[in-house]
Amino acid sequence: MQRQIYDGFKELILQKRYGPGMRIPSSRSLAEDLGVSRNTITGALDQLIAEGYIEARVGAGAYVARELPQDLLSAESSKRTSIRRPKVESRISARGKSVLHAPNTFGSDGGGHLPFRPSLPAYDQFPLELWARLQGRVWRRATAAIMGYGNAAGYTPLRRAVAAYLSEYRGVRCTWEQVIITSGSQQGLDLAALVLIDAGDAVVVEDPGYLSARAALRAAGAKLFYTRVDAEGAVLPKEKIPARLFYVTPSHQYPLGITMSLKRRLELLEWAAQHGAWVLEDDYDAEFRYSGRPIPSLQGLDPNGRVIYVGTFSKVLLPGLRLGYLVVPDELVDAFVAARMSAGRHCQMADQAVLSQFIEDGHFYRHIRRMRVLYAERQSAFVKLCEAHLADRLSVDPSPAGMHLPGYLAKGLSSETVAKKGAERGLTLVSLKRFAERHPVRDGFLLGYTSFSQRRLADGVKVLAGVLKVL
Ligand SMILES: Cc1ncc(COP(=O)(O)O)c(C=O)c1O
Repeated sequence: MQRQIYDGFKELILQKRYGPGMRIPSSRSLAEDLGVSRNTITGALDQLIAEGYIEARVGAGAYVARELPQDLLSAESSKRTSIRRPKVESRISARGKSVLHAPNTFGSDGGGHLPFRPSLPAYDQFPLELWARLQGRVWRRATAAIMGYGNAAGYTPLRRAVAAYLSEYRGVRCTWEQVIITSGSQQGLDLAALVLIDAGDAVVVEDPGYLSARAALRAAGAKLFYTRVDAEGAVLPKEKIPARLFYVTPSHQYPLGITMSLKRRLELLEWAAQHGAWVLEDDYDAEFRYSGRPIPSLQGLDPNGRVIYVGTFSKVLLPGLRLGYLVVPDELVDAFVAARMSAGRHCQMADQAVLSQFIEDGHFYRHIRRMRVLYAERQSAFVKLCEAHLADRLSVDPSPAGMHLPGYLAKGLSSETVAKKGAERGLTLVSLKRFAERHPVRDGFLLGYTSFSQRRLADGVKVLAGVLKVL
């Protein structure tokens, strides 16, 4: 009844049959007229008062409001459409502006992914059943440590497992307390920028280089200094730059795939010590080394505690997990943990527990070994296919590391045109030029092969051969 009376009054008011300022009959007379209790009437009127249709005047009863909420709403919406909004740039912060054009590679292939999208793992090889079993076990036995708030630095068993893995396989020298679990390396880069960079600080980045790292650094207000990459890796700037930080991908330069020589690594560490600068080492796909001995991380070579090491499970497991880690010098641990706390507190505890179990039980190492063999096979098949079908138009050389290969176009072909034609035929061709800001690169593509079966690689290469032939 109360709802019906409320609806009836609202309708009368909106139709202006009860016009603005008109007095509403007293609750007693309404109750008598309608044959309901006074409580039912006051309940309906109170609701209309709360919503602004009726105004109660002390000692004088209730009146229809002079300005009705509906009028206000429609005035607002017509204002919204009639006033031309200023561009969003003028309405958001300088930091907001600097992230506005950060690349968002999500779903760029409409959900699934097409050859030759770079740097994705083989999803179909992931031990899903096992992962689901571990998830089930963690949740069934969930304690407060899983259900409640956790340490912003991460779940302790996972931090220990990561530290053990890094010291054994990546030559990282750290205690588990220096490991901070992040939501992928992107968050690691963000936190490093937040903790170490002030607006206007000079930061050296590789050119060509990883766009999302630049985005994180720019967002912190960094002034980027682009250094070129030669056969030994990122070149140390000759000019005197008051740099606060140097961002590098020494294991497998992104996107060119060069492994930084030991000589250059030592020079870079020396440079950092001399400049009082930090080194941000992004070791995103270091697990995939197919021949030769892995070169230890920069972090492990550094006697001065100047390296912030960034790692991820996106390549070695799955990017959708959004799990990664930082290893930070002792003196920075508290600042990074505080920053992690303010940036979303911590990763999901159950996921961290599953991953730590996955590592402790040896599945992680088994998965890496299996993927290393598979990716090496895929790379060699891919290179052979390219040689057989594309040789005179696109040159693709094998690489001892990584999950992608640069492919260089023959003279006269442009990556923009080829990529456009390729997209029409179901190929994802990422131009190397995208990654170069100041130093021109040879025209070509960054080609991913790890997430495609040999059959898909073969089909993709044939389609690409067709595209290149008609151009
Ligand atoms: C150079 C580089 N760093 C890091 C990542 C991984 O990012 P995330 O851990 O945020 O998934 C990628 C992924 O493509 C990369 O290319």
